[in-house]
Amino acid sequence: MYQIKAKIIANKKITSQYYNLVVDAPQIAKFAKPGQFINVQISEGYEPFLRKPFSIYRIGPPKVKQKSKIELLYKIVGKGTNILSQKKSGECIDIIGPLGNGFILPPERKKNQKQKSGIILIGGGIGVVPLLFLAECLMNFRSFVVSVLIGIKNKKESLLTCNFDKLNCQVKIATEDGSIGSKGLVTDLLKEELKVGRSSSLFMTYSCGPSLMLKEIAKITEKDKIPAQVCLEEYMACGIGSCLGCAVKIKSEDFPGFKYVRVCKEGPIFDAKQVIWDE
Ligand SMILES: Cc1cc2nc3c(=O)[nH]c(=O)nc-3n(C[C@H](O)[C@H](O)[C@H](O)COP(=O)(O)OP(=O)(O)OC[C@H]3O[C@@H](n4cnc5c(N)ncnc54)[C@H](O)[C@@H]3O)c2cc1C
Ligand code: FES
Repeated sequence: MYQIKAKIIANKKITSQYYNLVVDAPQIAKFAKPGQFINVQISEGYEPFLRKPFSIYRIGPPKVKQKSKIELLYKIVGKGTNILSQKKSGECIDIIGPLGNGFILPPERKKNQKQKSGIILIGGGIGVVPLLFLAECLMNFRSFVVSVLIGIKNKKESLLTCNFDKLNCQVKIATEDGSIGSKGLVTDLLKEELKVGRSSSLFMTYSCGPSLMLKEIAKITEKDKIPAQVCLEEYMACGIGSCLGCAVKIKSEDFPGFKYVRVCKEGPIFDAKQVIWDE
């Protein structure tokens, strides 16, 4: 874990609500894994007082072994993200990372293996962010068929889907209003995909998005006995394991059958079966 003043290379507006931030952070980029996040100090004053966590979208530059840049994709939702969107190239921001455990990648398979295994990535809204870095790893180094299922509100959010197409993943989109892809929920797409997937060898799902979506995915995958890793984007305060502000309940063999873990330290990636979802 490093704390550095990272120079902003770009902070580009993609749509009125979404921004793409690239910072020079060689120490963090070198060790970053998909599913990990960085904690950004938005301003040097007290507003906002707390750092803000953002998943690592990509590391770069592309096709270069020595990675030095961290890319984020963020949505403006409040004061912190609004201030962040006004930062200019050349300014520096204080960041801590890489934080959290990251996704556990499936075991390496030989490229020429006859039957490829299927992996499904499921993202809801801005929850697609950690899945792009994961998809890049899965597509570059491993022999899997990677399907990406993305749930967004409407066509205006299709920016969240575009970089997956470029990776040759099989991308399917569900929108609430049917303006692009199929009308409905991303979990409906998952149910359909599993019907097809069972005949080949589907063996893993990875998801990130709203907790109701993750809870439903946990239910579906448990029923079909498919391993599922979920990324919980819980509210955080310190982001480094000190305040217990992000604690969630997971199952435990010891009395009373559950324990609390810190999303920022033991997570944000958990086995979906282990999480005790809110009733
Ligand atoms: C591990 C992790 C990774 C994240 N990755 C990304 C990312 O890649 N891109 C991105 O845009 N956002 C991401 N987030 C969410 C991001 O941290 C918040 O949107 C940001 O902190 C909001 O700050 P703000 O000051 O603009 O808004 P605030 O004033 O703090 O909040 C504005 C609104 O957003 C809601 N909100 C704030 N934080 C969260 C949260 N964690 N979950 C759900 N609702 C929230 C609040 O309830 C409020 O309604 C991530 C969060 C976590 C914990
Ligand atoms: S946010 Fe402080 S322990 Fe996780």
